[in-house]
Amino acid sequence: MLRKKLAVLFAAAMVAATVAGCGGGDTPAAAPAETAPAADTEAPAEPAPKEEAAAPAETAPAEDTAADTAAAGGTISVGYAQVGHESDWRTANTQNYQNTFTAENGYELQLVDCDNDNAAQLEAVRNFIGQELDYIVIAPIETAGWDTVLQEAKDAGIPVIIADREIDADASMYDAWVGTNTKNEGVTAGNWLAEYLDGKEANILVIEGTVGASAALGRSEGFNEVAASHSEWKILDSQSGDFTQAGGQEVMESFIKSYEGQFNVVVCHNDNEAYGAMDAMDAAGITYGVGGDVILISFDATHDGLQYTLDGKINCNVECNPIQAEVVASVIQAMNSGSAYEATTLVNDEAFVAPGITSQYATTMTEEILAGRAY
Ligand code: AHR
Repeated sequence: MLRKKLAVLFAAAMVAATVAGCGGGDTPAAAPAETAPAADTEAPAEPAPKEEAAAPAETAPAEDTAADTAAAGGTISVGYAQVGHESDWRTANTQNYQNTFTAENGYELQLVDCDNDNAAQLEAVRNFIGQELDYIVIAPIETAGWDTVLQEAKDAGIPVIIADREIDADASMYDAWVGTNTKNEGVTAGNWLAEYLDGKEANILVIEGTVGASAALGRSEGFNEVAASHSEWKILDSQSGDFTQAGGQEVMESFIKSYEGQFNVVVCHNDNEAYGAMDAMDAAGITYGVGGDVILISFDATHDGLQYTLDGKINCNVECNPIQAEVVASVIQAMNSGSAYEATTLVNDEAFVAPGITSQYATTMTEEILAGRAY
């Protein structure tokens, strides 16, 4: 087990926002274990969601840094406080970390599934601090409530990387951020819908992700921003399905009771919620997808979500890329060797639409795209 006694001061730190395709980008590669999914060549319209992190400006390396130990052939211990196992996306993300932070690659990974429980996630991070792990990676369940524990990590001299989602804390409270631009994902969904409807009315129901999660907040913010400029659209209701299939089904069942016959668009914040919504609509005899009563929009674009998109059941599926561990590993490698690293790395997303639909915002699904989607 490696430990640090002093706060790590890195030789230099890059603070520019970076757009990285999975396994690609500007950051040095650290033995990627998985291949990147097709990445959008267009940079997201939005800037990186986090301002540049206040990366350490000092140049003196600390005593007893992980770099010393790594140079001596030791392993790097990494604690990953994972959100939970609520979705197929999350499973893919967990596997990506497990395949990347291997003993073979020089790591000792402690991955804690926090089961979507904030208190458990804080406890997991405190546990990593208590064990004096070399690096801590957090996929924050919620944006709020991080200041105290981040200060504790700082006091212990353990660098923290925030991954996947965002937090409210000042960027000086952590060392790097890697994730996707979820507001931009919402904007893409909205822009696609506007293009598809071409001025027709929309009565929209939204099944949001977990309350307080930046992935839900960002998608809502982006979609609502587009909706605000369409007077012919009405958001009838918006409720949380907690990013789960059961949650999506439950919310959709209740929406059907309240709004049957009144809606023509359903937006689900992830694929699993969309599967639940489809089950509820099937049971109620409501058709959806291409040629159906309801236009169905989803996020994540996991393999099964893209299968439904290819089948025409989901009209538009906006990707949220779960393959982020290689980028996190490359940041850790740079930190560990005292080299420049990216304080903010944005992982690319793209969007997909069902066959028969063409869009300037999304790629039309094919068998070939589906075959290339490993998760
Ligand atoms: O933070 C990423 C989101 O979390 C994904 O969209 C969702 O599927 C997951 O649970």
